Amino acid sequence: MFIPKQEKKTTKRCAHNIDLFYQFFIESNDARVNAIVSFFGDMNGKKVLDVGCGAGRFPRVLKNRFKKINLYGLDIAEKKLRYCPRGIRIVCGSMRHICYPDNYFDSVYCVEALEYVRTIEEPIKEMVRVLKPLGKIIIIDKNRDAPAHVRKLLKADPWGRWFRPKGIMGLLEKCGIRAFSKILPYDKRSIFHNLFIAWEGVKVASWKQGKN
Ligand SMILES: C[S@@+](CC[C@H](N)C(=O)[O-])C[C@H]1O[C@@H](n2cnc3c(N)ncnc32)[C@H](O)[C@@H]1O
Repeated sequence: MFIPKQEKKTTKRCAHNIDLFYQFFIESNDARVNAIVSFFGDMNGKKVLDVGCGAGRFPRVLKNRFKKINLYGLDIAEKKLRYCPRGIRIVCGSMRHICYPDNYFDSVYCVEALEYVRTIEEPIKEMVRVLKPLGKIIIIDKNRDAPAHVRKLLKADPWGRWFRPKGIMGLLEKCGIRAFSKILPYDKRSIFHNLFIAWEGVKVASWKQGKN
């Protein structure tokens, strides 16, 4: 694509702004938000961990909706964490070694972050480890079987990985999660239509560290 020299800066700035917009804000009725809220239910008084929380766009919405939520955010990028909303406990670290004890959280979620980790077994094990028995987990990430035009449009991150339902489902089950997956539909005209899969599950009560 040819971009005249004088427009290059603007194009770059626009791309940056769009990127920033997506990193900071999310509609409170976005399908990803709805999936988390409808699966976890009332989060007031609950300890909830956002794995790979970035600049905190999901915590921002959840904190707004559930005033008494005990929300924690973990991300490897310290710079992004600075933009997280007040009132959530943030920690800089890797999801491959989550710095919380076993059976600590009522619910754990991870949105569009697993795709950037080289091996997904460790992070999934870690997310399950810190989850209480009968606690709920939801992972939302990109659908490898999304329509071709959607995949083409969003092929911006060559390092990111897109998943098929079975892969993550198998890993969750191996770690002691009763899981199911669903495609998140949007309006058919939206570029997000069928772009995301949500894997939702409950940690079985008999889970023991080391056995799974
Ligand atoms: C596309 S952003 C998504 C952020 C947030 N979940 C959201 O939807 O707004 C991916 C995030 O994953 C984080 N990330 C990547 N690898 C990670 C790791 N190993 N441990 C923790 N966070 C990681 C990145 O720093 C980035 O903030």
